[in-house]
Amino acid sequence: MTDFFEQIQIYQKSVETALEYWLPSIESEPKILHQAMHYSVLAEGKRIRPILLYATGQAFDVELSNLNGQACAVEIMHAYSLIHDDLPSMDDDDLRRGRPTCHKAFDEATAILAGDALQTLAFQILATDPKIKTNDAQRLKMIETLSLASGSNGMAGGQAIDLASVGSKLNIEQLENMHSHKTGALIKASAEIGALSANNVTPELFSCISNYAKYIGIAFQIKDDILDIESDTSTLGKPQGSDLALNKPTYPNLLGLDGAKEMANKLYYKAIKCLDVFDEKAKMLRQIADYIIKRSK
Ligand code: IPE
Ligand code: IPE
Ligand code: MG
Ligand code: MG
Ligand code: MG
Repeated sequence: MTDFFEQIQIYQKSVETALEYWLPSIESEPKILHQAMHYSVLAEGKRIRPILLYATGQAFDVELSNLNGQACAVEIMHAYSLIHDDLPSMDDDDLRRGRPTCHKAFDEATAILAGDALQTLAFQILATDPKIKTNDAQRLKMIETLSLASGSNGMAGGQAIDLASVGSKLNIEQLENMHSHKTGALIKASAEIGALSANNVTPELFSCISNYAKYIGIAFQIKDDILDIESDTSTLGKPQGSDLALNKPTYPNLLGLDGAKEMANKLYYKAIKCLDVFDEKAKMLRQIADYIIKRSK
């Protein structure tokens, strides 16, 4: 039995090889833009969204090699969101994935364009990858799922709430709404696209997966808020204390560190409860939920 971290490495390697394949060559024009896209996407990220997508697809017996394009699409969408999140007009951060942020290594206009180009590349992959072995209706559903999760009713909307809330105290419902949009939506979409990659998923099982991922998506951002306080810059590869410096509303800010940890734990239990209908095939999904609340970066 492959151990959890070995399996994670297999998934990371698989998506990274596929990312190199799908990204435009840095030798092709416009070179600076293509270099910026490579720089941000291929930097050392945890690849949690691809990992979740692979593990979900494999829980439904989809071959790893038929999940690479979908895994690239969610990781590329995420990389775009990080580039824009770090811009001076947003979180104004200088360090990401252990390197200068995209707008620092290149310039602001290039960072904006790299984000724009990555976002459309994600959809191009879902629309064209011949290794996606579903019918066209399911492929369209994947595209719809990624677009809804990323737009104004998903991640971009969550980022807008985040920016509008700086300096104000949100209540627990408002905070959960913000987290479920800015971070939860793309994490939920990753699991859903994994499930849509199989041809045999009943609506009941699909909704179990979807609910599982909804809970771990919020837990993931709560843990991110906790790490912003408890971890350090070199472990995180991004500036520790950024939320505090910007007076962002976070779970630790509202509930205290212990309260935030308790909330993350509660969400973990809710998430794995959704997997009760699955057998051993969902073992990896259970372990991912555990990893999300215990991770140190
Ligand atoms: C950071 O995401 C931004 C959030 C949505 C919390 P990750 O913690 O997944 O960042 P990488 O991909 O590992 O760099
Ligand atoms: C980022 O949230 C969410 C998205 C990028 C959509 P944060 O602003 O907390 O992410 P980090 O801490 O900079 O990675
Ligand atoms: Mg932010
Ligand atoms: Mg940020
Ligand atoms: Mg953060």
